[in-house]
Amino acid sequence: MIYLDHNATTPVDGRVVAVVEEHLRARFGNPSSGHRAGREAAEALELARRQVADLVGAEAREVVFTSGGTEANNLALKGAVAALGLERLIVSAVEHASVRAPARWLADRGVAVETLPVDEQGRVRPADLEARLAEGSPALVSVMWVNNETGVVQDIPALAEVVRRHGSWLHTDAVQGAGRLPLVWTRLGAHLLSLSGHKLGAPKGSGALVVDRSLDVEPLLHGGGQEDGRRAGTENVPAQAGFGLACALAQAELDDRRRHWAALRRHLEAGLEARLPGVVIHGRRAPRVDNTCFFSVPGVDGEALLLALDERGFTVGSGAACGRGEPSHVLTAMGVEPTLAYGALRVSLGVGNTREEIDRFLDALVQETERLRGFAAVAGR
Ligand SMILES: Cc1ncc(COP(=O)(O)O)c(C=O)c1O
Repeated sequence: MIYLDHNATTPVDGRVVAVVEEHLRARFGNPSSGHRAGREAAEALELARRQVADLVGAEAREVVFTSGGTEANNLALKGAVAALGLERLIVSAVEHASVRAPARWLADRGVAVETLPVDEQGRVRPADLEARLAEGSPALVSVMWVNNETGVVQDIPALAEVVRRHGSWLHTDAVQGAGRLPLVWTRLGAHLLSLSGHKLGAPKGSGALVVDRSLDVEPLLHGGGQEDGRRAGTENVPAQAGFGLACALAQAELDDRRRHWAALRRHLEAGLEARLPGVVIHGRRAPRVDNTCFFSVPGVDGEALLLALDERGFTVGSGAACGRGEPSHVLTAMGVEPTLAYGALRVSLGVGNTREEIDRFLDALVQETERLRGFAAVAGR
């Protein structure tokens, strides 16, 4: 199998597997226990917390471990709205379901939820946010750093400046950016930042919400006083230890990884444009994370192409991990016409991909596109 869907999930790095296994087998104490086994587990957890904090340039005490990006986004939205007593939430039109759904949940409970549009490249305009915040009460604003479908990077520092000037708060979902772009959380300027382990070589079920030390969040889970009272429940030490190591590795290897992805994507996109006339690469004129290419092949159904490629051993994405037969809400928000949006495919590269794999993928893509177009012609479409 040639795996090209790393924005959905990444394989777990072998070095991370070794650490997780050690904690599962030998160092299984409960980090809240006072004896030696417990203390060892607590030390492992605190090492991981420092490693996560270092990746984002935060303080260790600002890191709250969660079960992943979904929980981090829920805790950010529900937890901050409750703790700050806010009645207003503003989210961008291109957020992941794990932001959109808690926003709907809050709307059902009386919070005024507004949606910020994006331009045709998928970017939120700071002026649009400025106009919103100039009127009405302070709000929690949630704009993702890197979009999971297009890879488009938002100008979070500019948005944070607007938010802070208006006495409001900013959450950013950094799940697709952490480990792929240099990240200094104080420079981004957000108050809350979500991370997920399985997007950067750690196990599923690991992740964190980084919470500015000036801010409280109301916990989603009540119980013991774990995570400084911000998230009850015995921590998943093996997974979080793996997450910590994956963050340290991502930080140490970031430049090499970025160069690798950028070279492969240049090769991929040159091949797409040379061999598939009319191909549209979404968000191409915006800053994008190096590993992602989201493109549409006119006249071909993206889902059919995805399945045909899967049959031949190539794993790609069709945008959000959905398969519900609806055009992507991200492309719709960018004003992409439905016929093109239905034809969208996402290639998201990982550290292990090679140039030869991209060549083989391009050959298969061109053949399957021609085959599907042939069917469509015969069917008289
Ligand atoms: C942008 C973004 N946010 C949040 C999530 C959810 O993360 P998790 O799978 O760790 O719950 C994802 C996963 O696809 C994502 O791409």
